[in-house]
Amino acid sequence: MAILDILVYPDPRLKQISDPVTKFDSALKDFIRDLNETMLAGPGCVGIAAPQVGYFDRIVIVDLSSKPKNPNHGKLVLVNPVIVEASGSNIGREGCLSVPDYTGNIARAKKITLTAQDEEGNEHSYQMKGFEARVVQHEIDHLDGLLFLDRLVCRRSELFPRQNYAE
Ligand code: NI
Repeated sequence: MAILDILVYPDPRLKQISDPVTKFDSALKDFIRDLNETMLAGPGCVGIAAPQVGYFDRIVIVDLSSKPKNPNHGKLVLVNPVIVEASGSNIGREGCLSVPDYTGNIARAKKITLTAQDEEGNEHSYQMKGFEARVVQHEIDHLDGLLFLDRLVCRRSELFPRQNYAE
């Protein structure tokens, strides 16, 4: 296992669009293990996407098991995730391992229906809302070469220096 290096804004590779996963083999499982370990090494980190470590396949991990107040599915490995339905909109604060110095207020759909494969290639469908839906939308953006910075309506009023939260 290994903690992988995180690409940090303005690294141009963060704009790359990731490819669908087609091989569900042991190399995929090894990579997912390393990606998970890298996520766990980030303080308070609840999600990570493969392109953040320079691996341009459509893989995301979210883990909201530490946020029981927000209804969620716990840890999910999402391979080839697709949002098939989205509704509502709300604004919330987001941070990102690839944008370590800032957080931003971003509008996202309130509720989503998501399809994704697991690391074995099995298809799943999920209903998500609130914070979990927000985290998944943020991570899927990484697969399409987008950062939360790209979704700020106004950098002057909606971008904030990151606070040093006590652990
Ligand atoms: Ni991010």
